[in-house]
Amino acid sequence: MVMTAPDPATLINLAEFEAAASGSLAPMVRDYYAAGAMDEITLRDNREAFDRIAIRYHVLGGVADRDLSTQVLGNRHDWPVLIAPTAFARLAHADGEAGVARAAAEAGVTQVLSTLSTTSLEDVAKAAPGGTRWFQLYVFKDRGVTADLVRRAEAAGYQAIVMTVDAPILGRRERDARNRFTLTDGLTAANLTSTMGRVASDGADSGLFQYFATMIDPGLTWDDLAWLCSLTTLPVLVKGVVRGDDAERAISHGAAGVIVSNHGGRQLDTAISSIDALSDVAEAVDGRGAVLMDGGVRRGTDIVKALALGANAVLVGRPILWGLAVGGEAGVARVLAILRDEFDLAMALCGARNVEDLWPDLLV
Ligand code: FNR
Ligand code: LAC
Repeated sequence: MVMTAPDPATLINLAEFEAAASGSLAPMVRDYYAAGAMDEITLRDNREAFDRIAIRYHVLGGVADRDLSTQVLGNRHDWPVLIAPTAFARLAHADGEAGVARAAAEAGVTQVLSTLSTTSLEDVAKAAPGGTRWFQLYVFKDRGVTADLVRRAEAAGYQAIVMTVDAPILGRRERDARNRFTLTDGLTAANLTSTMGRVASDGADSGLFQYFATMIDPGLTWDDLAWLCSLTTLPVLVKGVVRGDDAERAISHGAAGVIVSNHGGRQLDTAISSIDALSDVAEAVDGRGAVLMDGGVRRGTDIVKALALGANAVLVGRPILWGLAVGGEAGVARVLAILRDEFDLAMALCGARNVEDLWPDLLV
């Protein structure tokens, strides 16, 4: 049964948003957002790995004034959270990616827009001119289409390109296969032409799985990263790295940074959790580029843990969609406000006055 959503102001943590969103979304959309690949082991472990880490906090740190800001690629972020790219936000709410853009700008958070957004990258930029944005790129078999997306993102003021590398073929989300996932309500992948932006099931499988198989290039190599870097003056970050040696290769092929991610457990099931993969990557990068992570960030203490293990910032994926589903732009604003307050509290209770105070010895 689909219930009406509660007032976002009455919800006090992200788990409550998850529960409220699953009650209000149509089952096919709820499943698409929630799904992990196969047995969903990595999906669960992204969270459980955070919970296995304990904090050995400092006391009497003089925490009356806390500075939550961080530097990523030489730019100051008010606090160390960005919005992860997630496809098809208008399935959750009519506010869609534009609503996310406005809430993000208001909260001082950078939005990473998906190639597969249901609002065009230009319209998202127009919706929140004061905000900062990066563009997530899927490399299409058609390199002309790919290069055009990059040029448009540059022209619309996006400040970085995020090349996702963990999805040469879409992971097997059994819920989507069962539901024959398909875009509804006239929605398309709005950055593409109406033909290329059509994501529909032929009735035999998930329409998104079929879309990837047709459109997205599974043959990418490190040379394609170098090609992308040569195409743009924007910094390129590589998303989906879980190993130090791959991070090393990313930097040596021109990347400005990496995002430690297993795609929210949606690609290779039984892949290492993101937080467990982080230290190795941070050590390999060793200050030569930005290190971000996503996957399972749901509490302020998760952000503390990721920064202590070497991340410059984290990204949140599903909680933004839950916020949208519950209350559109206002729901996203509330999700971000909760997470910021929790992070601020966690910093204080750790004895940390700023992100420079977060080191691996804080954790066991
Ligand atoms: C994603 N993710 C994703 N990543 C990407 O690079 N491009 C995309 O279009 C999408 N689309 C997408 C849709 C949905 C519904 C989800 C849940 C995820 C992955 C996303 O950027 C991120 O890596 C994870 O969602 C992070 O994990 P959490 O915060 O959702 O646990
Ligand atoms: C997903 C793709 C679109 O995870 O990245 O659904």
